[in-house]
Amino acid sequence: MSDIKTMGQQFGRRSWAEPWKIKMVEPIHMITRAEREKAAADAGYNTFLLRSEDVYIDLLTDSGTSAMSDRQWSGMMMGDEAYAGSRNFYNLENAIQTYYGYKHIIPTHQGRGAEHLISQALIKKGDYIPGNMYFTTTRLHQELAGGTFVDVIIDQAHDPIDPHLFKGNVDIDKVKALVKKVGAENIPYVSLAGTVNMAGGQPVSMQNARELRAYCDSQGIAVYLDATRMYENAFFIQEREEGYAEKSIAEILLEFCSYTDGAWMSAKKDNLVNIGGWLAVNDPKVAEQARTMVVVYEGLHTYGGMAGRDMEALAIGIAEGVQDDHVASRVRQVRYLGKLLLDWDIPIMQPVGGHAIFVDAKRFYPHIPQDQFPSQTLAAQLYLDSGVRSMERGVVSAGRNPETGEHRYPALELTRITIPRRVYTQAHMDVVAESLKAVYDQRDSTKGLKMVYEPEYLRFFQARFELLD
Ligand code: F0G
Repeated sequence: MSDIKTMGQQFGRRSWAEPWKIKMVEPIHMITRAEREKAAADAGYNTFLLRSEDVYIDLLTDSGTSAMSDRQWSGMMMGDEAYAGSRNFYNLENAIQTYYGYKHIIPTHQGRGAEHLISQALIKKGDYIPGNMYFTTTRLHQELAGGTFVDVIIDQAHDPIDPHLFKGNVDIDKVKALVKKVGAENIPYVSLAGTVNMAGGQPVSMQNARELRAYCDSQGIAVYLDATRMYENAFFIQEREEGYAEKSIAEILLEFCSYTDGAWMSAKKDNLVNIGGWLAVNDPKVAEQARTMVVVYEGLHTYGGMAGRDMEALAIGIAEGVQDDHVASRVRQVRYLGKLLLDWDIPIMQPVGGHAIFVDAKRFYPHIPQDQFPSQTLAAQLYLDSGVRSMERGVVSAGRNPETGEHRYPALELTRITIPRRVYTQAHMDVVAESLKAVYDQRDSTKGLKMVYEPEYLRFFQARFELLD
């Protein structure tokens, strides 16, 4: 068992600390309130449109924002930049096979490249894809391939304070009901995500994965995994599920993946790199289809849009990211911030998940209706207060219903404060918490936003807003 873990248990009051020390730093600074007001207005109050130089503490995402280790950086110097058959590809293939257990590996430039390949390979027009809550790019690729996404997550996931320990679980009865309604032949696979991003980084239990697998086997339906944050999911299983306390994250990961037919991965998260992704499948026919397509859309099947050096850093990142001490300190930093906010009665989603704090904007701004974008408003106000960048995960992210053209009003209207891996310290977390408290104290006088521009797809990235008077 890891040292940090036993220390915590033995001494109660003794703290954990990160299993690394800092060797290189990047200076940051905060611009003035007047400058932040101008920057926010120029960005249409959309944090995706801010220049990063105008941001003090950047908690927009944990995607591609990790700090690489000295080993990963030395791996960058070992890039074999051959067009075909780079040594680094074989190292990457070996790392994925070792830690995730899948057979066939197709590299892609990032997660959505792999989502594209798997969606096009498996979905035919008119199909239904059940999943444990939508993710923006995942669902869009399923829709672009002609499918309809159906949410089959347990009801508790839609309640921001339900204390269920595995709020990412699939409600298998919902899958059964869908099979009854549309027929198993129109369901190519269940889209299962580890630590569900849009549900607040909530995990799926091993038991749920096992039961889902058994049911899907009985119906001839495949199970594909969004493995983007599976290390964190494995940590929660280790901590909360009976029989797993003595197993390593690596062992838990392998077992979980064994209940699935393959996975797509945004390596920019758990795998600790700034760019990269992969698709891994067991079925050689699916692998062949994906390899045929990867050369059209990404790059040759032995680099898929990544440089050799990127694949090397990724292969090393896979092995580093799965270490128990690393994952434990990562999740504990997120919890540290969550505890500060809970101590001040700031409404956040609970239990605190793996990669971020999700502030419940509906309870934060109960007077702002959902069509005046409470979570977008909170992201804008947090930036104005302290230069901290967060992300809207509410009605703007949910987009419009492609049939009716109406806003989709998700039950969860959240502002995500996302913690990059190995980048910020506890002092940064204190500054963020205090800024949220200041914004909370001014909540009654805060007004919502009006959307003044909206692109057709994934509108949250580029939509523009104005402050309501
Ligand atoms: N799946 C999940 C669960 C994700 O969180 C992401 C990206 C993707 C797939 C797509 O991967 O970005 O590498 O193309 N999430 C980022 C985020 C953007 O901020 O949560 P990608």
